[in-house]
Amino acid sequence: MTQLAVIAGDQRSAVLAEWLNADLLDFDAANLDAAEFFLAYRDGCLRLLDRQTLKKGGLTVEIDPRPGEQHSYPAPKKDLLAQAIGKKTHTVVDATCGWAQDSLALFRMGYQVTCIERSPVMAALIQDGFERLAQKDWVRRRELSPPTLLIGNAIALLADLSEAPDCIYLDPMFPAKKKQSAATRKSMAILRDILGDDLDRQALFDAAWAATGKRVVVKSPDHAEPLGGKPSQSFQGKLLRYDVYLK
Ligand SMILES: C[S@@+](CC[C@H](N)C(=O)[O-])C[C@H]1O[C@@H](n2cnc3c(N)ncnc32)[C@H](O)[C@@H]1O
Repeated sequence: MTQLAVIAGDQRSAVLAEWLNADLLDFDAANLDAAEFFLAYRDGCLRLLDRQTLKKGGLTVEIDPRPGEQHSYPAPKKDLLAQAIGKKTHTVVDATCGWAQDSLALFRMGYQVTCIERSPVMAALIQDGFERLAQKDWVRRRELSPPTLLIGNAIALLADLSEAPDCIYLDPMFPAKKKQSAATRKSMAILRDILGDDLDRQALFDAAWAATGKRVVVKSPDHAEPLGGKPSQSFQGKLLRYDVYLK
């Protein structure tokens, strides 16, 4: 069984399957055993599905504000993420973009965000999310451009940035505690199933430290050792921490 297949739809599905070098399948029950994960364009979004969700909604890059977030632009810089990134910071490179939820929260707060993602599957989902974002009324009215997405390994790409950003943000996949927390969202669990842990996260920290202008921020589960040794500052949440390393 292959890991991932694309479900046939319009021309975009064929282009995506070719880009990912993945099988292009017709959607019928016989194909449910053909792959562990599927990508499909449905209801105007690119969606990632596993076999349990194949007939339901699937997961997509969510571009609307998170629950409880203010809908104004720029949204207030008041949560732990914003405190860690710094209110005076302008440019942020999110070197581990994933589902882009942190990148998009930073974008809505008015930071200038560049994203890096090495998984081509996640990159396709992010690109689709950013294209939908560009069509939103509030984005068009203000003539904003969605974050730039660079596809590849951040360890190499960070060394090639033309200008050092104020902040490089890292949220790599750490090994899970033996018992996965009930709070682990489906989107993160599926990411872990597809990609596994980011075993080169130490090298990623070193690359970020070398490339940043002012600070590196690392989001970690609360049980993990700080990635860059003792941080300059730490912002503790319920199950996670933001460690800040100032140059
Ligand atoms: C835990 S997820 C990030 C979640 C993200 N902060 C969000 O809000 O959705 C980690 C992501 O970083 C990516 N990643 C990890 N190491 C990377 C590297 N060296 N270069 C590029 N992407 C990387 C993984 O492929 C994965 O998609």
